[in-house]
Amino acid sequence: MPEPTIWWKHGIVYQIYPRSFQDSDGDGIGDLRGVIDRLDYLNDGTERSLGVDAIWFSPTYPSPMADFGYDVSDYCGVHPDFGDLATMDELIEKAHARGIRVILDFVPNHSSSQHPWFLESRSSVAASKRDWYVWRDAKPDGSPPNNWIAVFGGPAWEWDQATQQYYLHMFLKEQPDLNWRNPHLVAAMHDVLRFWMRRGVDGFRIDVMDRILKDPDLRDNPPAIDRNAARRFGQTALQQHTQDQNWPEIIDAVRAIRKVADEFPERMTVGEVFGPPENIVRYYGGPSLDGLHLAFNFSLVRIWDRRWTAEHVRAKVEAFAAALPSGCWPNYVLGNHDVDRFASRVGADGRGEERARVAALLLLTLRGTPFVYYGEELGMTNARVPEERLRDPARTYGRGRDPERTPMQWTPAGGFTSGEPWLPYGDLSRNVEQQSADGRSLLSLYRRLSWFRRSSDVLRFGDYAAVDGTPAGVYAYTRTYGDERLLTALSFTNEPIAFELPASLAVREQIISTHERAGAAASQLIELAANEGRLLRLG
Ligand code: NOJ
Repeated sequence: MPEPTIWWKHGIVYQIYPRSFQDSDGDGIGDLRGVIDRLDYLNDGTERSLGVDAIWFSPTYPSPMADFGYDVSDYCGVHPDFGDLATMDELIEKAHARGIRVILDFVPNHSSSQHPWFLESRSSVAASKRDWYVWRDAKPDGSPPNNWIAVFGGPAWEWDQATQQYYLHMFLKEQPDLNWRNPHLVAAMHDVLRFWMRRGVDGFRIDVMDRILKDPDLRDNPPAIDRNAARRFGQTALQQHTQDQNWPEIIDAVRAIRKVADEFPERMTVGEVFGPPENIVRYYGGPSLDGLHLAFNFSLVRIWDRRWTAEHVRAKVEAFAAALPSGCWPNYVLGNHDVDRFASRVGADGRGEERARVAALLLLTLRGTPFVYYGEELGMTNARVPEERLRDPARTYGRGRDPERTPMQWTPAGGFTSGEPWLPYGDLSRNVEQQSADGRSLLSLYRRLSWFRRSSDVLRFGDYAAVDGTPAGVYAYTRTYGDERLLTALSFTNEPIAFELPASLAVREQIISTHERAGAAASQLIELAANEGRLLRLG
């Protein structure tokens, strides 16, 4: 029996940061019309396009933009910077016509402080929606109810002078936390999901899934064991988040969200969850598979130069797979709008592009859903954003997150907008126009890999097995489906390296080399140039 293809398992998901993908009206801010104009780049049904199966947008809702859309003031609208509901409808329709599914970002942990719900909630202690947010009295000495720290720094509580109580905000004070213990709030949020699914939205990336419920007694978080971590991750790393993150009852809320998604056919949910694999996989709901369809596996996102080693990457891939309950499906992410660009994270010695090629082969030949962040296919690096143009309010991570959110690089001149882009461009020597014309570019490699994957049962469905006994610096694995078998061999070293494959893994032909080496003759001796990856057919 052939395996059924399930889009969110076997397809490639492409993340669009809508402010930065394509501007159609010259205001310097990307918009939905711009995305419509670029749909052919994403998938025009031919190998000239990227061949993605789904796009996920960071939030496009009305918002004061305190956190660039992660502060929603109307869950059922579209911010005028991006367009309107009619444009969203058109986008969904045109994406679907090309076989591209549309995933929206659902932001359940907090709304904007300008959301009408919060305006009502803060109007008086007796307000009908008071309990839709988390309000508490001060301690007798006037201090906040507990020691929780906001992810972006400072106390997680803001004093409201008018009603003489604190409200909780795990992020900015402009992002008050919603109270998922209130059934009316929960019903309203479920209706938001239905609203979009009725319009044809295929799924949701769920923001901060791991914080929507906290300790109902609001007990203090204990201090961190490794206080040095605070240097890298900010103040919030000064505490262990036992009371305000991954609270056990969240899984019940997750199951209820899943039930709503299941009211509509073929919808999916993918949650943003942090912690070790054992924690992340809990959100899949266990053997009953009644939780999220996917919970982000960020283990490759946490890789910087020193961790880009064969041993570390293999260990991370296998730890996640081993933790997954049977029936649950893995996923892989190299980057997103919250972390340094992959090519920069592993490129301190100037070899980021080579490693980005190896990472592309890894991402697109592993068993699990690949998530690609816009521009990753070009090897976009962090942009240098001058101090006066920095826009991200979250400076927790040092310089903020603007360098990884800069405009998509379409042409040598930019091509993102006819006006002044909201953030400056990065290194425009990496652009779609030139990389499209160059069969050896990273973009061409992505296109080849993605179309090969789309046509390959073994890459979409096949089992994974690591090849043991490869030399240090090499990670190799097979994918097997029926009597088809492929081998991915990846070098993580700056020196050429070779190893002999056992006769049981007989090499038939080369499919792809990240170094575009000519299809080497079938040989059991696997030669890899420095930082080369090769995909071979066995059998
Ligand atoms: C995670 C999002 O990815 C990030 O961009 C945002 O600032 C926070 N959640 C708060 O919503």
